[in-house]
Amino acid sequence: MKLFTSVHDVANVPAIVKEALDLKANPFAHQELGKNKTIGLIFLNPSLRTRLSTQKAALNLGMNAIVMNIDKEGWALETRDGVVMNGTAVEHIREAAGVMGEYCDILGIRSFPSLTDKEEDYSEDIFNKFIKYSGIPVVSLESATRHPLQSLADLITIVEHWQAAPSPSERAGVRPKVVLTWAPHVKALPQAVPNSFAEWMCKAQQEGMIDFVITHPEGYELAEQFTPGAKITYNQDEALTGADFIYVKNWSSYHDYGKVLSDGEGWMMTQEKLKITNKGKVMHCLPVRRDLELGSDILDSEDSLVIKEAGNRVWAAQAVIKGILEGL
Ligand code: CP
Repeated sequence: MKLFTSVHDVANVPAIVKEALDLKANPFAHQELGKNKTIGLIFLNPSLRTRLSTQKAALNLGMNAIVMNIDKEGWALETRDGVVMNGTAVEHIREAAGVMGEYCDILGIRSFPSLTDKEEDYSEDIFNKFIKYSGIPVVSLESATRHPLQSLADLITIVEHWQAAPSPSERAGVRPKVVLTWAPHVKALPQAVPNSFAEWMCKAQQEGMIDFVITHPEGYELAEQFTPGAKITYNQDEALTGADFIYVKNWSSYHDYGKVLSDGEGWMMTQEKLKITNKGKVMHCLPVRRDLELGSDILDSEDSLVIKEAGNRVWAAQAVIKGILEGL
């Protein structure tokens, strides 16, 4: 693997999930692989989980990790081509990324969307410039349109919990029903997490691992490229009926780009709504706004997987970095 920007960079999805679970069971088995290798983790936006889990994954593989919050600690970056740099930007992305490529063997980049210019955001212009000008393998730490390390950790969590069911024989050959449900929020959030989750779950559905349903209010349709084969309904109760895993996430409108279309009353997941699921387990990528996106009655209960899901970010990152190190 030379790049990790989406599920399309992974040759075998069930195999990378198994690799991650093997690494979870034996985290330090490959310490020689990363010896004298350096990963640079570059953040243009805030992070808790991605920063800590990816750094830990690299250390588990014996790597050095350099972390930079470039939005706060670096020179102001110019990302456009062909402009006279007589404004506030001090350094062009061409030189900045090129220099990072000199110091590192692998680069991780986090670059959120503007949510004001759909074409520019969905072209992944900034992200692609880091890939082009660094000249080294790049891992997405969340781009304008995708968050693949999160989605891989989500799939690992689903597989892990489905396999560990109290009566595995009852589940043999049975696919879990996985539901992505929109949730209310006060801010306009990117589509990156739901796009990416949908893309990975659609691939897992093609592989026969799960059945996948998306539910959201009218106006919150995701771009079709991320949802091939998914069942999509505006009826949340219909989607939740019999669900085994419920993935809760807010996103702003894709078609009315970056807009919050309503207060989303009635869409927050609660214990009352869980009653129509198949004793469903609830997931969220975090950070989560309690009692707005997701009820405290779920977050504080055994029905929530959010902490274990965040824990699995380490093994997702470690499986990906290991795959890249093996190709260096
Ligand atoms: N889920 C996630 O990516 O968390 P951070 O934004 O804190 O990294």
